Amino acid sequence: MPHLDSPITYRCGLTLPNRIAMAPLTNTQSNADGTLHDDELRWMVRRARGGWGLVSTCAAFISEEGHAWNGQLGVATDAHLPGLTRLATALTDAGTIPIVQLHHGGAKADEAPMKLSTVDGDNQRGATEEDIRRVIADFVAAALRSERAGFAGVEIHGANGYILTQFLAPDDNPRTDGYGGDLAGRARFVRETLRAVRAAVSPGFAVGVRLSPVDAWARRGLLLEDGVQVAAWMGEDGADFVHLSLGDAKGPPPHEAGGPVVTTAVRQALASEVALHACGGITTRADADAVLAAGADVAVLGRMSIAHPDWPRESAAAGFAPLPMPWDAGHLRSVEVGPDFLAYISKFPGFVAGGAAARG
Ligand SMILES: Cc1cc2nc3c(=O)[nH]c(=O)nc-3n(C[C@H](O)[C@H](O)[C@H](O)COP(=O)(O)O)c2cc1C
Repeated sequence: MPHLDSPITYRCGLTLPNRIAMAPLTNTQSNADGTLHDDELRWMVRRARGGWGLVSTCAAFISEEGHAWNGQLGVATDAHLPGLTRLATALTDAGTIPIVQLHHGGAKADEAPMKLSTVDGDNQRGATEEDIRRVIADFVAAALRSERAGFAGVEIHGANGYILTQFLAPDDNPRTDGYGGDLAGRARFVRETLRAVRAAVSPGFAVGVRLSPVDAWARRGLLLEDGVQVAAWMGEDGADFVHLSLGDAKGPPPHEAGGPVVTTAVRQALASEVALHACGGITTRADADAVLAAGADVAVLGRMSIAHPDWPRESAAAGFAPLPMPWDAGHLRSVEVGPDFLAYISKFPGFVAGGAAARG
């Protein structure tokens, strides 16, 4: 098993200095038009200095139609380019490998008055084939913009219930055309997106895909065997890495105690030259080692990077114990969690002391 602190090289040739990555984290600190705000820059740079082998931006909208929430970073037009360039430069200078998470909110694009979805619904319009071609073109343009800005790669957001997951999930996709029906039909949108992005960017620019291989946060009918097949297809379609969004990256699917370890099942089906990133529930080095032992190549941490921006170094010290949640607001401010992000996470039960109460 590789050591967490050892480098890894993707098949495109890009090398991460270690196997510890910061997950994409929505922090609602961008300007209303999606341009970079200094609070978001400070938040990201503080983490980039902490020894992470890779840091990802938050889910960044690729078009106004996919704009999901206020304060979201944009990668949709050239007006976003100067801020993206500042961000990429600062993160690279801080010693990490920066990537952009490319996002279209689909039915969850709250900033769009009419949301694009699989089928018509309340304030939702079922995507035509022309819409699908346009969204793919927007993903491609956003990837090229990320490369121009100086990022080392992109992650196509195919997880967590947004447009690409909606097409993949049987419960969200009742279409009867070539983009619905069996798994091959439901996976067509994400496969065409990946192939188009991979073909457009430079050969040395990393392209990954984030997937929800099983339902972790809400029921949408995603089966592990289907998630495993989609991950394998991502490898065939040229992904440098597949990133699993899970509740427990070292465990079985939720509600399936005794079931197979999801990370291991995906690793077994994924071509060996494709890196496997796994995220969910990692708080200590022992957790991260267990995720690598389960078959992942890179351990990805979400919440820990909020309270512990120096986790990659800090966690290696004997006796390290992560700060228990809810976290102290003063501590969060001291590690460059800006006021808008603090207000945002204060609404989540159990995140910030004095914020929303933990669910009983
Ligand atoms: C505040 C917050 C914001 C998040 N934003 C994103 C996002 O923009 N994109 C994404 O794919 N996942 C997002 N997630 C999910 C995380 O990337 C990660 O999958 C989740 O926190 C589980 O990992 P953890 O147990 O290490 O926290 C977010 C999670 C949190 C708590």
